[in-house]
Amino acid sequence: MAEAANNETGQTKPRKVKYRKSKASWNPAMQAVPIPGIRRMVNMAATMKDVIHLSIGQPDLPTPKHIIDAYIDALNAGQTGYTMDAGLPELLVALRDYYGKRYNRRLTRDNILITSGATEAMYLAISATSAPGRQFIVTDPSFLLYAPLIRMNGGEVKFVPTRAENNHQLDPDEVIRAMGARTFALILNNPNNPTGAVYPRSTVETILEECAYRGVQVYADEVYDHLIFDDDDFASVLNCSMDLDNIMCISSFSKTYSMAGLRVGWVISSQAAIKSLRRYHMFTTSVANTPSQFAGVAALTGDQQCVKDMVDIYRERRDKVVELIDQTPYLTGYKPGGAFFAFPDLPPHVDGSDLSLRMLKETGVCVVPGDAFGEHCTNAVRISFSTTCEKLEEAFDRIIPWMAKQQF
Ligand SMILES: Cc1ncc(COP(=O)(O)O)c(C=O)c1O
Repeated sequence: MAEAANNETGQTKPRKVKYRKSKASWNPAMQAVPIPGIRRMVNMAATMKDVIHLSIGQPDLPTPKHIIDAYIDALNAGQTGYTMDAGLPELLVALRDYYGKRYNRRLTRDNILITSGATEAMYLAISATSAPGRQFIVTDPSFLLYAPLIRMNGGEVKFVPTRAENNHQLDPDEVIRAMGARTFALILNNPNNPTGAVYPRSTVETILEECAYRGVQVYADEVYDHLIFDDDDFASVLNCSMDLDNIMCISSFSKTYSMAGLRVGWVISSQAAIKSLRRYHMFTTSVANTPSQFAGVAALTGDQQCVKDMVDIYRERRDKVVELIDQTPYLTGYKPGGAFFAFPDLPPHVDGSDLSLRMLKETGVCVVPGDAFGEHCTNAVRISFSTTCEKLEEAFDRIIPWMAKQQF
């Protein structure tokens, strides 16, 4: 407290100083960024002991050693400066060759931009194009980044729901019916977070054909493109579309090679689009992490057995979680074909957010409430199987008797 002189006595006495509360001067667009639905859960979990997390959104398996070695070798070789703005030339070539071979598609280095994870790639693609009057079609539920980014930049989100009873498959007719005069773009996340749904070739081709016909942009988020359990044929937009004029295909090393913290992703598109995004990229993150890009070259050019081994582990966990959800009262599951998530429904009137909080408090198992991912899925929860089968069993040993006691 400050001291003020008393005019009459000349003595000093403490005076209360009023501090003006600083008024937040954020850009109003920040209002489009929600308080993450998962935060309440994670904050509470942090105060508890013996929590089993089925809320994890990143791989728990270790990064293969040859990738770590390449990262360390790059550091030891003094590779600590900036790369070219489009990315490390060796990585651009490796990606060009890798995608060329995988999808039999001719690409050049100029079709590719290396970013700080798929997150930056999505940020660049959406914020460079979202604007008032432009409508983006997004599945509901969807990965929590898309809608806020679209809205922050003045664009409008139109949700197309997917449903557990339909294995969260996307109905191409429903997507096409949702398109109108204002539709500017579609966000296609395949395999999907939070549902684990993998869209078959017929769905992707039908949607892409309509988008090409209408001139609708397609932003495809394919970060889980290797974590596929039942199909050998993955319908990437890169081998379902005639040309890349209206396509941006986004992916990263995060999930396939357990490299989420190394932060390397990319966008593949027409040379013209990459040229514009490259300029924007220089004004955002400038370049991706240099040693991580060397690690990425090692990932792409090294033995792919490590990916097969990881997919086998995730498949076993997927089968386990499907079995456990089936045994759980009030949960309606399905078989997710990819990624490492299941998104079972609760009865229609049950609030998933309320249930998740109570379940965490009373059983110590942390899942993510469905409303973190959209508007139509408040009676669902996301269960991640990026954890061992033993942990899954332990978690459901707690969940199943607890759910049986609920009176919905
Ligand atoms: C669907 C989806 N897209 C993008 C990302 C972000 O990936 P990255 O680590 O490459 O930024 C995630 C991460 O959870 C995701 O689930």
